[in-house]
Amino acid sequence: MTTIAIVGAGRGLGAAVARRFGLEGFGIALVSRNQERLDALAADLAAEGLTARGYAADVRDPEALASVLERAGQELGAVEVLAYSPLPQKEFLRPVLETTAADLAGAVEFSVYGPVTAVHQVLQGMRFLKRGTVLFVNGGSGARPNPNVAGTSIAFAGQGAYARMMHEVLAPENIHVGQLIIPGAITPGHPTHDPGVLAERLWRMHADHRGFRVFAEDMDL
Ligand SMILES: NC(=O)c1ccc[n+]([C@@H]2O[C@H](COP(=O)([O-])OP(=O)(O)OC[C@H]3O[C@@H](n4cnc5c(N)ncnc54)[C@H](OP(=O)(O)O)[C@@H]3O)[C@@H](O)[C@H]2O)c1
Repeated sequence: MTTIAIVGAGRGLGAAVARRFGLEGFGIALVSRNQERLDALAADLAAEGLTARGYAADVRDPEALASVLERAGQELGAVEVLAYSPLPQKEFLRPVLETTAADLAGAVEFSVYGPVTAVHQVLQGMRFLKRGTVLFVNGGSGARPNPNVAGTSIAFAGQGAYARMMHEVLAPENIHVGQLIIPGAITPGHPTHDPGVLAERLWRMHADHRGFRVFAEDMDL
């Protein structure tokens, strides 16, 4: 069994991605900050017949993030798929004219240092498997900067650049890096923005290994 590590695994998109990949036989490593909530989600998934474990870490703490990803690989099997989709903190979502350099530090830790740490940690295992997928999930500000949410707009641009470069350099090694842009809110029951529909998009990105950026719906760029 290989593993999908879902970094930023809550009851919304994270849980839907866990179910979609779990259905295909992946072990599921759930990463977010609260062990109790993770254990509850892992227990629900286990009750559905899936193999899931919770690993508490803050993506802004590189040592903790690398350490839980290492442990997940040892306990569940090599990480074949990394999904990086923590929900950005409200403090990053401030208007550009009110955003100082100091305000950007957290957003950059969250959206740039976190991904670089996570990718470095799982890459060796993917190379050993000779296959792998890294999936980044962003809101619309990941494709078009939005002056109402300056922190994520600036930090997502950095994340997008990193992801795009990794897409290019890892493709020859059968490691696919892709980015799903979700303009607007994730909404249960919505034809394009339901968590299950979005999880299916992410599954297809993994299964097809094609292209870099996928939009959940069209947006003006
Ligand atoms: N929700 C939306 O309407 C929406 C819209 C567009 C795009 N997106 C994208 O969709 C993804 C999130 O999907 P979702 O909203 O359905 O979320 P979800 O999977 O329900 O939960 C995401 C989890 O991220 C965790 N998280 C937040 N900060 C973290 C940190 N510093 N370190 C580790 N974990 C952290 C939170 O858990 P803890 O608080 O317990 O750590 C939260 O449960 C993100 O990539 C986001 O950019 C969401």
